Amino acid sequence: MHMSDHSLSPNQTGISAYPDAAQIYKQLDRLMTFEPLRFCPEATEAYHRFFNEQCSRSRAMTEEAKTFIPGGVQHNLAFNHPFPLVIDRSEGPYLYDIDGHRYIDFLQAGGPTILGGNDPTVRGQVLDVLSHVGPSTGLFHEFELKLAKEINRHIPSVEMFRMLGSGTESVMAAIRVARLATKKRKVVKIGGAYHGWSDQLVYSLKIPRTRRFEAHGIPRAATRHTREAAPNDLASLERVLRRNRLSGGTACVLIEPVGPESGTRPVSFDYNAGVRRLCDRYGALLVFDEVVTAFRLGLGGAQGFFGVRPDLTCFGKIVAGGYPSAGGLGGRRDLMRLVAAGIESGKKRAYVGGTMAANPLSAAAGYFTLKEIERTGACEKAGRAGDRLTRGLQALLEKHHLPAVAYNQGSICHLEMVGGMFIRLDYLRILSVLKEIKVRKALMEEYGAAYMAEGLVTLAGSRMYTSAADTDDVIDDALARFARVLGRVERPVARGASQAAGEGVT
Ligand SMILES: Cc1ncc(COP(=O)(O)O)c(C=O)c1O
Repeated sequence: MHMSDHSLSPNQTGISAYPDAAQIYKQLDRLMTFEPLRFCPEATEAYHRFFNEQCSRSRAMTEEAKTFIPGGVQHNLAFNHPFPLVIDRSEGPYLYDIDGHRYIDFLQAGGPTILGGNDPTVRGQVLDVLSHVGPSTGLFHEFELKLAKEINRHIPSVEMFRMLGSGTESVMAAIRVARLATKKRKVVKIGGAYHGWSDQLVYSLKIPRTRRFEAHGIPRAATRHTREAAPNDLASLERVLRRNRLSGGTACVLIEPVGPESGTRPVSFDYNAGVRRLCDRYGALLVFDEVVTAFRLGLGGAQGFFGVRPDLTCFGKIVAGGYPSAGGLGGRRDLMRLVAAGIESGKKRAYVGGTMAANPLSAAAGYFTLKEIERTGACEKAGRAGDRLTRGLQALLEKHHLPAVAYNQGSICHLEMVGGMFIRLDYLRILSVLKEIKVRKALMEEYGAAYMAEGLVTLAGSRMYTSAADTDDVIDDALARFARVLGRVERPVARGASQAAGEGVT
């Protein structure tokens, strides 16, 4: 554990102790030496029965939706096995479905609702703005300035801030600014990281080195200047930077500061400072994708926690407090000016736009959310809830002798039962690797479904965001539910053992 020794006061940080990344990788490596952990068949059956018998209104609605909405759901997060649930109420730590069930919400809309669902204070303030000016005018509104100043107060590297429509757009803008400013071409990301769905970044998603595996409908030219470095590996990053010198240079290194996929592959505490040094050495800009971490790890973001100053920062999620149009780019004044430059200044401009970007609703929601986080110490509360949840999960795994891995970076909690993202890519054995990905993905869905049936909404069955609404009682209730799921997992089998018997995935 690395105790947080950064300069922020303790009530502004959401991480009480930073996990030891090397230790986590060891545990994950060990997990992958076992066959995927499975439920006993009766448990799977019971969970399916719950959905089929008790969620009939959700089933009917999402079945009908398949006719009018591709895949039946709009959102990658909304998948649930065997069918999605329809949520019609959110309040504090809970979600309610249309069949009348209550769930503890560890999805948090994918991260934005750190105050808890539908926070009444923010809602009241937002409603005042909405009643007065409506959601959009296309012209300037006071809350745009208030939000930019508020972000600057907490995150000094954000000398200027431009609000945008989503995290995806924020990253697109960052890359455009970086290329214009440096006159270099290559963009380096870390294998497995998610930075939204723009053409150039649907590259090595989830599993490192998978490159264009998901890039259907995206021309090769769009990803030609995207490169990846191995997670938590400065030597790998330096090799890529060195190589890029021969082919147009690196405009920016883009990182999620807790590690790819919100820390699914965690970084060691010193990693970000190392990336900063390498960027300076190779003349690349450092872009922090703080879409998840900003205002979750603390009001100072991950950069406040790690004490590293990026050149540009991408925002999303909490920047609009769970309200729509959540995105924005901030950073050094000389760089940010490029999004405003135009014919008058004689400087080339990095073109950005968005009809609904920075509307009064989103800007006000973001501003009031930041104020409320500060007033209530929400990051710290959410982080403490994450600690309690993780400690409880670790105890359960130990009790049941399961080699699964639980750890957290404050309110970002991970529970790896299956290791779906940790399959090693081996191009020589690609067919068996693909088969293994499929099997482990299906199992992750089973875990997600089991948690859901026990009243726990998770992100893809392996990640949980905690919020300030998660009191000790809520977390203890959640742990009792997790206990029921984990108590129904079959005994772990070492990988070689079942292969020898001709079973399992190879
Ligand atoms: C780290 C990170 N970057 C970027 C994005 C994309 O943001 P958005 O979904 O708002 O486009 C996400 C979304 O989950 C994210 O987690």
